[in-house]
Amino acid sequence: MKVAVCSAHPYDRRFLQEANTTYGHELSFFDARLSEETRQMVAGFPAICAFVNDTLNDAVLAALAQQGTRLIALRCAGFNNVDLASAARHGLRVVRVPAYSPHSVAEHTLALILALNRKTHRAYNRVRDGNFSLDGLLGFELRGRTVGIIGTGRIGLATAEILRGFGCRLLAHDPYPAPECSALGAEYVTLDELYRDSDLISLHCPLTQDSFHLINTAAIGKMKRGVILINTSRGAVIDSLAVIAGLKSGHIGGLGLDVYEQEGDLFFQDLSCQVIQDDVFERLLSFPNVLITGHQGFFTAEALASIAHTTLHNVSLFEQSGACPNEVTSALVR
Ligand code: NAI
Repeated sequence: MKVAVCSAHPYDRRFLQEANTTYGHELSFFDARLSEETRQMVAGFPAICAFVNDTLNDAVLAALAQQGTRLIALRCAGFNNVDLASAARHGLRVVRVPAYSPHSVAEHTLALILALNRKTHRAYNRVRDGNFSLDGLLGFELRGRTVGIIGTGRIGLATAEILRGFGCRLLAHDPYPAPECSALGAEYVTLDELYRDSDLISLHCPLTQDSFHLINTAAIGKMKRGVILINTSRGAVIDSLAVIAGLKSGHIGGLGLDVYEQEGDLFFQDLSCQVIQDDVFERLLSFPNVLITGHQGFFTAEALASIAHTTLHNVSLFEQSGACPNEVTSALVR
């Protein structure tokens, strides 16, 4: 099938081309993000392969359908950037990669927790600068600390497994509790209880209408003073302005982000020679106790190989039978 791969980076080309030796699709790579301005570039492609920050709103989907596209093959798990109702209206089918390696994101979550707590990012710069002072680098032991996990699906569960190994007490919140998580010793509690008792809170729920700005001023007010907050799920689960206020007052003791609500204008590109116009992002960067990575939780060789295979397999199934178990419909939004 002819597939237009949008937002294609060198690593996307490498892993998709390697996997495609098995599937034999006709892949065309486009550096640009898919948007209302760039939709023309993929005219005539029956399948579009898109990533997290490609725009798939009503205007783009209507244009794609008119241009002959029938399939949107997301090479990611989250699908919050797709207007599913509009896709259905325009007869566009949407498939995704529901699971590739939850361990990649879970391990990156731990990298953020450990670096933020022990100030590794600051220590790295200090030592390179010949500054061996320990002032300001004080951390705490994870052993015995209470960690609240919001969303105990694949990634939340993998994170819980690692944290259990550190000897943490685990609290969890999810509208659909997972027996595997309880088996690890995690206790399912209400959000208020999780906020009240957790030293560290890690977000692993998808972005939905219910989870949009879940972490807002009211939620932060219910948390322990000095709480460490980690978000590797989707940026808009956190209200950035509320979190900035929490950091300024000291109520939030540390913030580790792999995702950011306005990341579409920033992440996955080299902007090091440009003036960043996003003042909220720049304010977040100015805090000594904030550590941000640019949506790299998924970025391991294992995950990229698995994403590439599942994406191309999804396209093959759609081409051969018109059906795919990894299809995304509004029924999945729960
Ligand atoms: P999953 O679908 O296996 O698990 C999500 C869990 O969140 C489910 O158990 C669901 O019941 C729960 N949930 C839904 N709404 C909730 C709410 N309002 N409050 C609490 N829990 C809620 O998804 P998976 O694979 O664990 O991924 C989680 C999220 O991680 C994805 O939706 C995606 O946004 C993000 N992600 C981030 C990556 C990165 O590179 N940083 C890579 C892959 C996923």
